[in-house]
Amino acid sequence: MNLQDLAQPGVLSDPGTFAHYLTYVMREEALDTIDGLRDQLAAILGIEKAIRQKDLSARLTVSIGVSASAWDIVFPDILRPDELHPFQAMADGPREFPATPGDIFLMIKSERMDLNFQAARYINGILAPVSELTEDIQGFRYLDNRDLINFVDGTENPQGIDRSIAVLVNDDADIHRGGSYLTVQRYIDHLDLWEKEAQEYQEQVIGRSRMDNVEMPDSVKPPWAHTAKSKVEDEGEELKMFRQNRPWGNVTEHGTMFIGFAASPAVIEASLDQMITTSEDGTYDRLLDFASAQTGCNFFMPSKTLLDEL
Ligand code: HEM
Repeated sequence: MNLQDLAQPGVLSDPGTFAHYLTYVMREEALDTIDGLRDQLAAILGIEKAIRQKDLSARLTVSIGVSASAWDIVFPDILRPDELHPFQAMADGPREFPATPGDIFLMIKSERMDLNFQAARYINGILAPVSELTEDIQGFRYLDNRDLINFVDGTENPQGIDRSIAVLVNDDADIHRGGSYLTVQRYIDHLDLWEKEAQEYQEQVIGRSRMDNVEMPDSVKPPWAHTAKSKVEDEGEELKMFRQNRPWGNVTEHGTMFIGFAASPAVIEASLDQMITTSEDGTYDRLLDFASAQTGCNFFMPSKTLLDEL
């Protein structure tokens, strides 16, 4: 079977118009009463199927992620994926990437907010007895796929077969082939500060033009541009991730949900390290002057092989 056929569909597909993200932490008191979470996950897959069929054109998917802290509780009889570990908090100067709790993560996406909401409520009905909902965030497409800072996001994402190679695990136990590592960070974007800056400076901070979304040549792009700092290379070869970022929030509190998939969490960790840590030339990612991470969690998105077993 092709590697991409072993992935949860929502892991490889582009973000939809609407997203709903749920993060759960297992309840201590429930741990003695359950033997794995197979029945609950199977029920969630049933909900996905039932709601997707209400309107196939809405392309609803529910993707399930499990963190290192919950793996042995959720799948007591399945070996943990090789590289699954908790998100490591990072800090440099005033910049912080906190690590926050999260055992199970659900990413619901589709073209219809109402279907997402219905799926979220049903899923919550299944998980609430054994876990606590710690984050409940709705994301949305803004204009032509822009972040709230008004720059197009996702342009340099790998496409087609390159995406599957960048995102899907290929060298772990068979049951994990087609799985993927996910890092989630919810950012608050400080639009009041951002919008005080001239367009020319904003474009330098991103390393692309705002209106027509063209990348600056390396000769002009500052070393502190987001697209310079976030790019990961190993011996001249670029190591790609796949970002499904979406804006979230209301008029007073809002920002970016960073949703980054990779075949190894090391790619995203390297990117985060380059962004936050002041390098020898005294620079860091200046996007972090305008966006602060509120959460940080790592998950593994089990393969379809594993989920089909449920
Ligand atoms: C507030 C949070 C963030 C915002 C608003 C943001 C926004 C953007 C924008 C506008 C681009 C340029 C277009 C594109 O190629 O997508 C971009 C590129 C990129 N971002 Fe972010 N980003 C955020 C967080 C992150 C984080 C946390 C990471 C890594 C862990 C990251 C990794 C990347 C990468 C790898 C690229 C492509 C670089 C290239 O090859 O040119 N971003 N981001």
